[in-house]
Amino acid sequence: MSNKDISFVTGANGFVGSHLVDYLIEKGNEVHAIVRPTSNLQWLEGKDVILHTCGLNSVEDLQKSFDGAHYIYHIAGVVKVPTKEGFIKGNVDMTRNVMEAASHIQTIKRVLITSSMAATGYAEIGGDVDESSPLRPIEPYGESKVAQEKVAQEYSDRVASTIVRPPGVYGPRDTEIFAFFKAINSGFSVMMGFKPKEMSLIHVRDLVQGMYQAATNENSAGEIYFLGSLERYDWKQLGEVASVAMNKKTWTIKIPHFVIFIIGFFGQLLESAFGMDVALNKDRAYRVTRPSWYCNSAKAAKELGFKQTISIEEGFKSTVEWYKEKGWL
Ligand SMILES: NC(=O)c1ccc[n+]([C@@H]2O[C@H](COP(=O)([O-])OP(=O)(O)OC[C@H]3O[C@@H](n4cnc5c(N)ncnc54)[C@H](OP(=O)(O)O)[C@@H]3O)[C@@H](O)[C@H]2O)c1
Repeated sequence: MSNKDISFVTGANGFVGSHLVDYLIEKGNEVHAIVRPTSNLQWLEGKDVILHTCGLNSVEDLQKSFDGAHYIYHIAGVVKVPTKEGFIKGNVDMTRNVMEAASHIQTIKRVLITSSMAATGYAEIGGDVDESSPLRPIEPYGESKVAQEKVAQEYSDRVASTIVRPPGVYGPRDTEIFAFFKAINSGFSVMMGFKPKEMSLIHVRDLVQGMYQAATNENSAGEIYFLGSLERYDWKQLGEVASVAMNKKTWTIKIPHFVIFIIGFFGQLLESAFGMDVALNKDRAYRVTRPSWYCNSAKAAKELGFKQTISIEEGFKSTVEWYKEKGWL
């Protein structure tokens, strides 16, 4: 019998999930991907992965797929849907299905739950949030992540789980922070308001390493970890680093908060009325105008050995190269 770890990844075809699949293969795991029949599998093509196209709606199907699993990395989730119900379905109901199915699998060692810094909400300039901070989500996405964490904790007597809370994640295959790179490529470095804004960002490769450490550490069951950058960034600095990575001269545009809220208002109308995929809606306008999205990852560093290994300069450079290679920029 093989002594490989048998790991299942939900959301395996997405941005974070596909990088985790790559990492687990490198680590010698037998990797199983939970996808759905409609999933775009471009990032899994040609890889040593066993596909299960059952999706996450049926506990019975999940239970059959999870047979023999040691680790389940529950990465699937929704970050951008027009309704609160959509967030609950994508982030809470699916997690309940995964936990329920996992609770019937005798071989399970751990379920890794992918929450978000959105669960705690923002910090003040110079401050941070950590695992002891109160949960103050400011939008339906963050509320659904709090509810997702609670579901995992409700199963703690039946399934061992560990929760990770990443801040913003960037790197090859990302389509969200990509909008920032596109703006720089067009010659514009956009800043939200006139006051400084701080944030954590994590390269996806560092994140998946932290996820692996969190899932496989013998003492981390029942724990929560932030997995963010050691460095604290602001928009001006990020604009400058991206401009260097792209070798582009940029104009810095500072957009006043009230303009951001107006754009968010109209974005919200388009999203609610026509289901359009907009960059800014009411909630996202509020999010990007908050002073700090910096999280403190000291607990993960101390207990898991987690660390940021990719500087923002290196990370932006290699990400831009990847976007160019793929013809995205
Ligand atoms: N990216 C970030 O900056 C960031 C930051 C903090 C936390 N997170 C969390 O990290 C996780 C992954 O995010 P990501 O950026 O990799 O997103 P992504 O690229 O959009 O991938 C989402 C994945 O979830 C799957 N999924 C969504 N709804 C599903 C459903 N109802 N049934 C089955 N599969 C479903 C998608 O499958 P399909 O392709 O079939 O839709 C896809 O594989 C999420 O839980 C997110 O909340 C992300």
